[in-house]
Amino acid sequence: MTPRKILVTSALPYANGAIHLGHLVEYIQTDIWVRFQKMRGNECWYVCADDTHGTPIMLRAEKEGITPEALIARVHQEHSRDFAGFHVAFDNYYSTHSDETRFYSEDIYGKLKAAGLIEVRSIQQYYDPVKAMFLPDRFIKGECPKCGAKDQYGDACESCGAAYAPTELKDPYSAVSGAVPVLRESDHYFFKLSDPRCQIFLREWTRRGSLQTEASNKLQEWLGAADENKLTDWDISRDAPYFGFEIPGAPGKFFYVWLDAPIGYMGSFRNLCDRKGMDFDEYWKPDSTTELYHFIGKDILYFHALFWPAELKHAGYRTPTNVFAHGFLTVDGSKMSKSRGTFITAESYLQQGLNPEWLRYYFAAKLNGTMEDLDLNLDDFTSRVNSDLVGKYINIASRSANFIAKHFEGKLLDEHVEDRFRISLPELMPAADEIAGYYEARDFGRAIRRIMALADHVNQYVDQHQPWKLAKHGGQERELHVVCTTLVNAFRLLTLYLKPVLPKLAQRAEEFLNIAPLHWNDARHVLPPAHLINGYEHLMQRIDPKQIAALVAANQESLAPAATPAAVPPAPTFAAAAEPHSPQRHAQHQQHTEDQTQAQVSPWEPFISIDDFSKVDLRIARIADAKHVEGADKLIQLTLELGGETRNVFAGIKSAYDPATLIGRLTVMVANLAPRKMKFGLSEGMVLAASDTDGKSPGLFLLSPDSGAQPGMRVK
Ligand code: 2FM
Ligand code: ZN
Repeated sequence: MTPRKILVTSALPYANGAIHLGHLVEYIQTDIWVRFQKMRGNECWYVCADDTHGTPIMLRAEKEGITPEALIARVHQEHSRDFAGFHVAFDNYYSTHSDETRFYSEDIYGKLKAAGLIEVRSIQQYYDPVKAMFLPDRFIKGECPKCGAKDQYGDACESCGAAYAPTELKDPYSAVSGAVPVLRESDHYFFKLSDPRCQIFLREWTRRGSLQTEASNKLQEWLGAADENKLTDWDISRDAPYFGFEIPGAPGKFFYVWLDAPIGYMGSFRNLCDRKGMDFDEYWKPDSTTELYHFIGKDILYFHALFWPAELKHAGYRTPTNVFAHGFLTVDGSKMSKSRGTFITAESYLQQGLNPEWLRYYFAAKLNGTMEDLDLNLDDFTSRVNSDLVGKYINIASRSANFIAKHFEGKLLDEHVEDRFRISLPELMPAADEIAGYYEARDFGRAIRRIMALADHVNQYVDQHQPWKLAKHGGQERELHVVCTTLVNAFRLLTLYLKPVLPKLAQRAEEFLNIAPLHWNDARHVLPPAHLINGYEHLMQRIDPKQIAALVAANQESLAPAATPAAVPPAPTFAAAAEPHSPQRHAQHQQHTEDQTQAQVSPWEPFISIDDFSKVDLRIARIADAKHVEGADKLIQLTLELGGETRNVFAGIKSAYDPATLIGRLTVMVANLAPRKMKFGLSEGMVLAASDTDGKSPGLFLLSPDSGAQPGMRVK
C-alpha cells in the first residue's frame, strides 16, 4: 500500500500560562495517533506552536517588566520542556510570532479581501480611559445582570453561568486599571462568514460523513436549516495597543486570534518544510491528495470547523480532511481545582518524579474518540497502572527473562516457533489489524482493553505452564525453553501494540529484546530461532499512592503565589472556561441544565436504600479450581481466591459451563452470604451470573470484571 501523507496539528497553547494535565489530554492523544501512523509506515508530520499574540500576553509582559518577545521566548522554552517530558514528539514546535505566520496571515487576509469577504464596520466597545486601550470582554468586570453576583467577567457569570454582552454588566470597571470604562466607537474588520458563498460551502463541507457525530450535530445546529442564515460575521481585528501583526493598510489595527492562531499551523509547517527541503504546497494546495487533521478541544470546534475551513477555502488553500474534537478533563469527577490541588501542571507532575507514561497509559485507556469529558480518577489511575501495566504486561517479561538468561545463556529456542506460538496463543498475532483499527479511529480505550485481554491470555498461559516449576524439577529444560520463548515473543507483540502509547518503555523493551525499533508490520512474525536477548532490568515501577498524595499537596501549595492582581485574568484553558465567544459555551450550559431535569419515573420500585445495597459485600474472585460434583446435575464446585483467602462454593452453572474453561478467570461473588451446608459440603458464598428473568431464553452468563480488577477488590 502507498504510504499516506498526513499533516497533524494540536491546538496552539497560549504563551502566557503553564501546560497542565488538561492540555495534555490533547497533546498525548495526538501524539499517540501520530506515533501510530508513523509505525504504520505513513509519512506523518506533527506540528504545533505557541499562540503568542493578544492582550493578556501584552499585559503579563508589562506586569513582569519585560517585553512580550522575552515573555514568549521564556514560555516557549517551558512549553517545549513540558511536552518533551511527556514524550510528545512534535516534528516542529514553533511560534505564531514568526515571519512565516505573518506571511500567511497577510496572504490569507489579502485574498479574502480581494474576494470581497472582508468588511469594515464601526462598533462600540468599552475603553479604559486611564490605560488608553480598548478592553477585551475578560478585562471588564462588574455585577452580573442576571443574578447580581459581583466581580464577574464581561462575557459570562461564573456564579449563575449566564452569558451576556459587557455592556449589560452593572457598575462595570476595568480589570486593568480599575477605571470606569467608557463606550467608544472604533472601526473593526470583519470576515463575512454570513456571505452566501461561506454558507453554501460550509453546508457541503460539514455534511461529509467523516465528522464525529456530536460535532456534526453541533455544526448543523450552528448552521441552521437550509433557508436560515445563522452564521454571523467574525470580528478579526483589535485596536492598538496590541501585541500581534498589524493589518496591512490599516495602521493601528491588528489581526485578532482567529486570523493568526490557526494560521500558525501553516507557519509552523512552512518552517519545517524550509528546514527539511519539503514541498509546502503539496500539503496546502486546494487539490492536495495529502490529509490534514486538527486535534482540538470541543470549545474551539466552531472556529475550526466553520471559520477556519471557510477562511482557507476562500483564500485558495486546501481545507482540513477532518477535525477531531475531544472533551475536557475532570479530576476525581470535578473540574480541575487549585484549592483541591487537582489543577496539576505538567511541570509539577514531572518534578514529583511521576512517570509520564503512567499518565499516557491512563489517558489512552479512557479516550474513545468522542467529545465526552475524560475523568482522571486518582485512585483508579493508581490501580490501573499497577494492575494492568505492571501486573499484567511488564510481569510477562520479568517472569520469563531470568529463566532465559540463567538456563539458556540468553538465547531463545533454536527452532522456528511461529506455528507453535500461533497454537499456544492464537489471538496474539491476528489481533494486530483489529488493534490498528481502534488506533486509527482514536478509540484508544478499546485498543488498550483488547491489548490487556491479550495480556490476560498470556498470563493464563504462564499459570498453566508454571515455568518456575519446570525450572525446579530437572529434565524439563526443553519445555521450559519453549514456554519462555513463547513468553518473550508474546511480550514483544504486546510491546508493539502498546508502543504508540508508551514510546520510552517500548524503546527500553526493544533494547532488552535486542531488536530494531518495532513497526506495525513486525506483528506478522516472531523472533528468529536462537535469538539472543539482553539481561532484563525492571522496566516500570508501580505507583505508590503516596506519590499521588504528594502531587496533590504540591499543587495545593502552589496556590499562594497564584493570587495574582486583577490585571491578568486566567487564560481560557481546555479544562476550565470555554473560549468566551464560543457558541459552544452556551450549548454546554444548556446541556448541563437539561441533564439536571431528567424525569424520575421508574418501573423498578420498591427501591432499596444505598445502605441496603452496601450490606451485600461483592468481591472480585479468581476461580482457582473448578470441578464436577459427583451426583449433582446442576452444580460445579468452585475454589475461589479473593485476595488472601479461598472459598468453596457450589454454583448451579453446570448447564452452561465446562469446569475446565473456568479455571483462571475472574468473576464476582457475594462474599458475606452466610455459609450454607449442602448435601455435597459447605458452600461459602455465591457467584453472580446473568440469565433471562422469565427463563424463556436459555443461557447463563457468569459475570467478569473489566481488565485490571484484582481478586479481593470490592464491587460497589
Ligand atoms: O483556544 C486556544 O487555546 C487558542 N490558543 C487557539 C488554539 S487553536 C489554534 F487555532 F491555534
Ligand atoms: Zn450571574
